[in-house]
Parts: sequence; C-alpha cells; structure tokens
Amino acid sequence: MPHDEVSKHWHEPKAGENAGFGKFPRPAMPYDRFMEAEGVPVYRSIGCRTVLDLPLAPWKRQGGRGTYIQLYGTEGLWGMYVVEVPAGGALNIERHLYEKNVLVVEGRGSTEVWQEGQAKKQTFEWQKGSLFSVPLNAFHRFVNATNSPALLLCGTTAPNIFNLVDNPHFVFNTPYNFSERYAGTEDYFKPSDDVEPDPVRGLAMRRTNFIPDVIATELPLDNRRSPGYRRIEPYMAGQRFYLWIGQHETGRYSKAHKHASAAILICLKGKGYTYTWPEQLGERPWEAGKALHVQRQDYEFGGMVSAAPMSGDWFHQHFGVSRDPLRLTAWFGANNSRARKPGLPGEKTSDMGAIDIKKGGSAIPYHEEDPYLRKEFEKYLAEDGAKTRMEPKWYEGPSTDGSEPGNDF
Ligand SMILES: [Fe+2]
Repeated sequence: MPHDEVSKHWHEPKAGENAGFGKFPRPAMPYDRFMEAEGVPVYRSIGCRTVLDLPLAPWKRQGGRGTYIQLYGTEGLWGMYVVEVPAGGALNIERHLYEKNVLVVEGRGSTEVWQEGQAKKQTFEWQKGSLFSVPLNAFHRFVNATNSPALLLCGTTAPNIFNLVDNPHFVFNTPYNFSERYAGTEDYFKPSDDVEPDPVRGLAMRRTNFIPDVIATELPLDNRRSPGYRRIEPYMAGQRFYLWIGQHETGRYSKAHKHASAAILICLKGKGYTYTWPEQLGERPWEAGKALHVQRQDYEFGGMVSAAPMSGDWFHQHFGVSRDPLRLTAWFGANNSRARKPGLPGEKTSDMGAIDIKKGGSAIPYHEEDPYLRKEFEKYLAEDGAKTRMEPKWYEGPSTDGSEPGNDF
C-alpha cells in the first residue's frame, strides 16, 4: 500500500512484527530541495573528466549560467558548483552564511568584497588557476570585463547550514559581520608565500586568503603520499573548510590509503586517473578477481573524483600519466580534516593515511599493493613515450635506505 494511504492511521505492529515500513526511500534533505529549486542541473557521479564538459543552464539567482555538483559520498558534508561569469558582465551581488572557496577554471576577472557598513569595497583580480576564499557573510560580486566568459568552481559549506536551519532567506539575508574573519584590512587579499607548520599536524601551511596561481605556485616537500610528493595547506579567511594542494613527481604515483568520504580531488596539472574501492574488497582486488567492483575516474585539468564515493572506508590511489607532474587540490568541506574532526579533546591521534597498514595506519605500501597497478601504470607511460620513475626496490620490501620515506614512518 502506498505510504500516503497508510500515513493517516497509526496501527501498532502485531506480535512478532516491527513498527514502521522497514524499507523506505531516502528523503531529500533541505539542501537537496534548495538545489532543485534553483533551476540548474545537479550533477551527481563519482567524478568527471573536466568540469568544462558539464552542461550549464541559466541561473537566475546568480545571474550567469551554472550547475551544481554533488559527488557521491559528499552529500550533506559540503557543496560544489560551477558558475560562468558572462563576458563583459557580472554575477549578482551575494552574501551568505556559508564559506565559499573559488578556483578559477577559465578566464579572467575580479571580485569586489565588502561588509555591511564598510565605506570602501575591496577589489582583487584573478585569472585561470587563482584560488581564494570569500569571507563568511561578506557581500561580494564577480566581475568579468574581458570579452570571453570566465568559469568559477566553488566549494561551499552550504549543505551544513541549509540542513540545519532549512531557511534560504536566513542563509542569504542575515546582517552580521564576522569581523574576526574579515574586517576590511587593506592587505587582506594580498598573497602571502610564508610557510609555517600547521599547529596540529605540523604539515606545511600558508596563511593566505588569495593564491594567484595554484597551478604554478611552489609546493614544499611532503613525501607522505609518494617519494618526492609536495604539498601545501592554505589556511584561508579564517574558515573551517579544509583544502590542500599536492603534487606527485612525473613518473611516480601515490600509495593507496583508506578513509571515509569527504575528499574530492581536483586535477590542476597533468592528467591521470584514480582507483577507489571499498575496504571490504581487500588490498589486492584485481588479484582477488574483484576488479569489477573497483571504481575508476579519469581526469585532466578541471576534472575531479570523490576519494570515497560511498559509506565506509574506501581505498583510493592516484596515477599521473603525462609528462607533467600530477598536481591535485583536495577539498574536504568544514571540519573533515584529521586535525579538525570532532572527538575527545586531547585524545592521541595520528596521521593514519601516511602510515602503512601493518604499522597501524591506513596506507598500502608499494611492495604490498596489487601488482596489476604497476603493470598498468607502466603500460600507460610507455604509450606516451614516458618512463616510470618508480624505483624497483620500492616493490621489493620495506625501505631501509630512506628512498621511500612513507615506508619508514
Ligand atoms: Fe585520501
């Protein structure tokens, strides 16, 4: 019997039966309903080759064409969309009670930012590869004075606030200045190159609200995901949204590691692919005849993949197969970094993704990974006239000479 026919009359279960329907379709959350009401497509998948391929539709509220993107596994955790700033035009003025990070995928333009009561608007210019964060609840407007359109990829904490208060008017029309995050200081959007350790995990961090070019910006050595791996964690606009930029050397690839969903990897340079599989398939799904259940996403500049596209822990591993190194930016939404996950304050925790499984972490070292992965990687490189720069000894056993730093963790 359809639900609406039974819902008006409550019947107690008989002995041996449970109350309720048992099975039911998952209802749309407030943020799902909000996206649907906006009149633009909602792209749902594990990833895409490049966002430049996604169909855009006129978006009345924004004043340009766009599409929402909600990759599998990120539902309710954080939101994403692309929006086009028309040539010789501008998007509508906005302010909102969610954080917003902007990656310029194509084109050039500028952003005006101001707060209620602020006499002078601040303006900064951006180009392909620029990354910045719009301060929480600040008024802002994107302007494009050139004669070709600009495409912005935005990551937000909109689902968090929408699913909590379920009221778009409140989200877009609350007059409050978060002056501890943004007080209109003159150098607010001036880039800073200073690197310092993040106070919790000690990884390389840059306090900056604007990075002019994340495709070219220098990255300090990190070594955790692959030998020679480089990484920076920008701390922007006092936000809770977590993101980083990382790069694997040409001819090398990341080790697999596992965790639950939140992370989306966005390709900034090079091209490649990601494999992701639920931990139940084990560490060597090809060898175990379970390759059918492994998911794969190929990408190039502007492409993306959800690291853990369903519930539970998923292994994921990234392969760059071009002459350029593979540079990725990973976005996680608010409070989904290992340093910001809620838990008992003071409790000991560790950088699990950088520690091998046998040592209590969640990473599969090269010498324990599925042999299929190396073979396939070398095949792709050969097709491109390139050579692997993975050292054979990394596949033989735990490193003793320090050439594979992650193994010595
Ligand atoms: Fe990961």
